[in-house]
Amino acid sequence: ANSNDNARSGRSGSLSSIPAHDFVQKIDVNPPKGTRDFPPEDMRLRNWLFNHFREVSQMFAFEEVDFPVLESEALFIRKAGEEIRDQLYCFEDRGNRRVALRPELTPSLARLVIQKGKSLSLPLKWFAVGQCWRYERMTRGRRREHYQWNMDIIGVPDVTAEAELISSIVTFFKRIGITASDVGFKVSSRKVLQEVLRCYSIPNELFGKVCIIIDKIEKLPIDEIKKELRSAELSDEAIEELLQVLSVKSLAKLEEKLGAAGEAVSDLQQLFSLAEKFGYSEWIQFDASVVRGLAYYTGIVFEGFDREGKLRAICGGGRYDRLLSTFGGEDIPACGFGFGDAVILELLKEKGLIPEVGQQVENIVCALDTDLQGAAASVATILREKGQSVDLVLENKPLKWVFKRAARINARRLILVGSSEWEKGEVSVKNLSSGEQYQIEVDRLE
Ligand code: HAM
Repeated sequence: ANSNDNARSGRSGSLSSIPAHDFVQKIDVNPPKGTRDFPPEDMRLRNWLFNHFREVSQMFAFEEVDFPVLESEALFIRKAGEEIRDQLYCFEDRGNRRVALRPELTPSLARLVIQKGKSLSLPLKWFAVGQCWRYERMTRGRRREHYQWNMDIIGVPDVTAEAELISSIVTFFKRIGITASDVGFKVSSRKVLQEVLRCYSIPNELFGKVCIIIDKIEKLPIDEIKKELRSAELSDEAIEELLQVLSVKSLAKLEEKLGAAGEAVSDLQQLFSLAEKFGYSEWIQFDASVVRGLAYYTGIVFEGFDREGKLRAICGGGRYDRLLSTFGGEDIPACGFGFGDAVILELLKEKGLIPEVGQQVENIVCALDTDLQGAAASVATILREKGQSVDLVLENKPLKWVFKRAARINARRLILVGSSEWEKGEVSVKNLSSGEQYQIEVDRLE
């Protein structure tokens, strides 16, 4: 036996019994820091969550897509100084190509849209649920690997698209028992910053960089923020004006500051009036300090937050009308969001809303005697061919054990294969919720 076989079978084997070229390497049984295993109970919860992601996306008529977890590193390198770049898991593959584990899905989506080009009929409504990797400092709800649910609309320049996306997240929250008193969305537009910068004749190229600096406002001391803005060539006057605007928390105030004519105010007004029609006004609020940490957003940006303020952003997204041209493609208006699996689970725990998701099997089939194992296998096959799930007991076990197992897997029926019934082509059935028992011909089992 080699060391692998030993590890699998749990045999430890003394060194003297193992050939000289072999050795036992005791492994760390924990997965790498920041990553997770999904044993069945966790996997059931994950599937429950992902099923809601998928069902909501389909309710909104979005189509599912996916991309490779491994991408070219270049796809994620942007010049604006984003945190996400420093968190990249990247390496050179055996063919000397620089590759990276994707930290997000949006650049891959952009790549695919460019690749498909004119063959696509717009607008696209795409969703994906995929694993993303970021070498983060670990905090509650932030890990080095997480799954993200994304919904993106490509080809719609109007705010109707953002309004539809937020509606889908609200629908999701409601389905899992989260209400508007638990969470809300802070909404702003990057055009607010753009309009201020334009007043001070700050070149457009600096826009992404300034947004990234502003995004750090809650994490860094204000002097540090000012220093970074100065090094991006903003005047003290411009910086003061910028910081003033960012503190605005109502649309009316924003209109006072920027005037009603600009796109920032009119986009936001349109979004709030659509929110009323969709019926989620109580979920959203204007907050000029929201800019999000990715360089490519160009218009409306939003994030989901817990009203108790205990957790990091639950989800985030916005409009990115100019991402495609940064990859050499032709720009198409686009917006979308990313919704992680980690923070929401923390929130559900806080609220006592984690559902009980046990295993669910329709039938447990058991031979009453070793000789009847083959007969039990035939019964299982007949039921499975009718589309039923069957847990076939593979060893000769006492009935007490079988009942215990049936309870653990939430089996609906117990089917016993005993010799006297089997001779007549019949089996005994016990309905485990009603307790009803009967004998029936195998072919008549439904
Ligand atoms: P993001 O704001 O970087 O946006 O991430 C979106 C969401 O992913 C976060 O709000 C959070 O739920 C989750 N998330 C991010 N990093 C982690 C982490 N280290 N651990 C756990 N959860 C995390 C994007 O990624 C954009 N690509 C979203 C988007 C799609 N924008 C347009 N379309």
